[in-house]
Amino acid sequence: MSQPKWWQTAIFYQIYPRSFADGNSDGIGDFKGMIEKLDYLQALGVTGLWLSPHFPSPLWDCGYDISDYEAVAPEYGSLENFARFLEGAHARGMKVILDLVLNHTSDQHSWFLESKSSRDNPKADWYVWADTPPNNWQSCFDGPAWTYAPERGQYYYHYFMKQQPDLNWRNPQVKAAMWKAVRFWLDLGVDGFRLDALGTIYEDPAMTPHSVPMTLTELRHFSDNAKTPKERKLAEKYWFDMFKHQWGGPGLHDLMKELRAILDEYPGDRMLVGEDDNIDYMGNGDDELHLVFNFPLMRTDRLTPDWARRNQAERLSRLDTLQTRGWPCNTLGNHDSPRLLNRYGDGVHNLQMARLHLALLLTLRGTPFLYNGEEIGMTDLIITDPSQLRDTMATWYYESLVNELKIEPAEAALRAGTMSRDKNRTPMQWQNAPNGGFCPPGVTPWLPVNPNYAVGVNVADQETDPDSLLNFYRRMIRVRKETPALVAGEYKPIHEKASKYLAFLRFTPEQTVLVALNFSVKPKRLDFSDLGATSAQVIFSSAERTELPLTKADLEPFGILIATL
Ligand code: NOJ
Repeated sequence: MSQPKWWQTAIFYQIYPRSFADGNSDGIGDFKGMIEKLDYLQALGVTGLWLSPHFPSPLWDCGYDISDYEAVAPEYGSLENFARFLEGAHARGMKVILDLVLNHTSDQHSWFLESKSSRDNPKADWYVWADTPPNNWQSCFDGPAWTYAPERGQYYYHYFMKQQPDLNWRNPQVKAAMWKAVRFWLDLGVDGFRLDALGTIYEDPAMTPHSVPMTLTELRHFSDNAKTPKERKLAEKYWFDMFKHQWGGPGLHDLMKELRAILDEYPGDRMLVGEDDNIDYMGNGDDELHLVFNFPLMRTDRLTPDWARRNQAERLSRLDTLQTRGWPCNTLGNHDSPRLLNRYGDGVHNLQMARLHLALLLTLRGTPFLYNGEEIGMTDLIITDPSQLRDTMATWYYESLVNELKIEPAEAALRAGTMSRDKNRTPMQWQNAPNGGFCPPGVTPWLPVNPNYAVGVNVADQETDPDSLLNFYRRMIRVRKETPALVAGEYKPIHEKASKYLAFLRFTPEQTVLVALNFSVKPKRLDFSDLGATSAQVIFSSAERTELPLTKADLEPFGILIATL
């Protein structure tokens, strides 16, 4: 392959700004804190940072409701602070991409305030307006997707909360205004964008109603209680059917091409990664998005060899069909999904599994994305006091369970806390100190800190323990960076019938690497003599070993082996 681009060799780390590091001791993360932690990130070894939204926002959706696209939220600092952060990241060899929310703005954005003020103002057509709700579409967060604005005597459309009105992307003025914001950040030197919810930008122009026989609350309730495979399948079908007309309408390819052309005007290979798994959004492979996430890999309750194998076969062959071969992009979690230990752990071998899963992510072909806090094994914190919830979707769910479905409040609180994304967005745990060292004692953090900072789940303790998860992350990241075949090599599965372990080769013309991952609680003795090599040199092994006999490669439970042939 020709010289890989920076976004192909990068290891990305997602920072959730509100929870990452509090530099001014007000209980809220900020740029001062992020700047102070740049050395930590450099030592971790990551080379790309994705910032969840850092823009001014009334915070109905934790920053994904933006009220000014060309500024920094005052609680996070100033543009000057942002510039210093960017400069500091660049100086340490880390690129920075921002979250770009195109589908909707905040209802407090000046564009919307003007648009809703009358039917004939200059921005009257910047959002999606109708005299009466044209269909039964739902907001995926809270009830009907059409909300009445008395100022205009009309309804506006919102796929997300009513505080997140959808922009009318068929209006060229909307595009021009948003492209101006895009250039604003590119001019400042950011390296690209993660495109939020791009599938929701265009809806079905025929406005076809959905046919699911229940409300959104009822559907959530139904999903929560779906126990049998049949019920779960039906719930899944209902979710899909309820929203399918609100997704993927015509127009997105042209829009992505336009946006890509803007990025391509800039030097330095600026990059776009879509919050979508649809490879179609990569266009011909070189004219729309550079990357889309391989979400199908993480959409399972259990990561198994077979699951990963089938996922790779499907994704990689599909990427190969693009005119310019597509580059994969793998992730196991983010700010919208439960923590990895909670999702994939078995409760007994959690930490071994966390290591195995990281090894999987970092040895697969494609750019990996990690989520802050995973490197120390942070876990979900279920907030059962509804007044402490900050994820409005969960607050709304709590209220609807109690008021509409008459569920007992304690049970409703547990359910809401469990579905809430707050649980996986709690403050980063820096030390074994009050508030996990995120903010000083006596300051109330914006979300409660998980008390497990006191039992080793914190950065300071793990830094000094050579066997900690944090140090494992550092080692594994180093292994990936120093092994060319893992960065840019081809992928070839081997031993494809094995149900308990995953084995594959990664290779370039110069190097062939064997990866073997034991997903079971039992040791495995593997025979790789079929590879035609006589010996292998160990690059990384979770068990102490000096040599690797290819006929008797022993893998302990959840063992990891990476070797050059
Ligand atoms: C996807 C984001 O990841 C999520 O956090 C947000 O709520 C929605 N898009 C709406 O912007």
